Amino acid sequence: MMAGRFPLARPRRNRIDDFTRRLVAENTLGINNLIWPIFFMEGTNTVTEVSSMPGVHRVTLDKLAAHVEPAAKLGIPALALFPITPTEARDENGTEATNPDNLMCRAARLLKKEFPEVGLIGDVALDPYTSHGHDGLIENGYVVNDPSVTILSQQAVNQAAAGVDIIAPSDMMDGRIEAIRRDLDGNGLINTRIMSYAAKYASAFYGPFRDALGSGGMLKGDKKTYQMDPANSDEALREVEMDIAEGADMVMVKPGLPYLDIIRRVKDEFHVPTFAYQVSGEYAMLMAAIRNGWLDHERAVMESLLAFRRAGANGILTYFAIEAAERIRASFGQ
Ligand code: PBG
Repeated sequence: MMAGRFPLARPRRNRIDDFTRRLVAENTLGINNLIWPIFFMEGTNTVTEVSSMPGVHRVTLDKLAAHVEPAAKLGIPALALFPITPTEARDENGTEATNPDNLMCRAARLLKKEFPEVGLIGDVALDPYTSHGHDGLIENGYVVNDPSVTILSQQAVNQAAAGVDIIAPSDMMDGRIEAIRRDLDGNGLINTRIMSYAAKYASAFYGPFRDALGSGGMLKGDKKTYQMDPANSDEALREVEMDIAEGADMVMVKPGLPYLDIIRRVKDEFHVPTFAYQVSGEYAMLMAAIRNGWLDHERAVMESLLAFRRAGANGILTYFAIEAAERIRASFGQ
């Protein structure tokens, strides 16, 4: 052995140039891993930016096809649909959620017609429709479980009948996956998939989303009696296990970056398609720093998305989906 030639093992060899780094890369981010959440509203000829989410827009239905076209062209597999219900259509019981001609259903029909190959994911929860901004029905100041599940299930069937491919219950009521599965099947919708927001935390990071929907100011109290405590992780596994047993086809962890440990535990334990939601507050944080010149836009966004893949996520719901897909496509030289 030659003196002074230490060490023999040098991990830096595999980092020495671009081709070697590419060869040894353990994870990749592709366009197929992206889901784009979109916001739409009543009215015509209007596009407004969400002030706390620069670059994220709400569009009227007549503008929706043009809004979505880039996603379809880029091959983004699915969209997550979020309707902005006018205040006058909201009530205590979220009745508008089950109206077959509500904004959500009209958007789903329009998008299925224009872009039949693009998957549509429908959020199931009452908060876009209730005057109090909660995800379920309120009795004596408490969000009641079983009566909420009944209406949520009707909401899910209503959406699926309008063309939503994947029902995504984000309400965190107990037993709702089983109820929704039974009602979908009972209505002949046996192939409508369910992506359960299985581990959804009572998080501060949803603030800008509630601004986007206009439900922020309405929300009375918080959602801690149904969304999970950020202190917990074993409980997330229990929620996921129950949702899979009840018939969920895919599960989701939400929020994203602060909860990568949960994604990893879920993936290791259950081996089911697992998604992460990089939520509005995460988008707002990144964009605020990017806008201040404190973070490099491309590098920060792409690193944040790759981190989800490393944690085990199959896909990511992200407001960065379009720009990420454009960057991925550009890096393939297309
Ligand atoms: C509705 C719902 C919320 C989000 C997705 N679906 C808000 C909430 O639970 O209050 C948040 C998404 C985001 O912050 O980007 N239940």
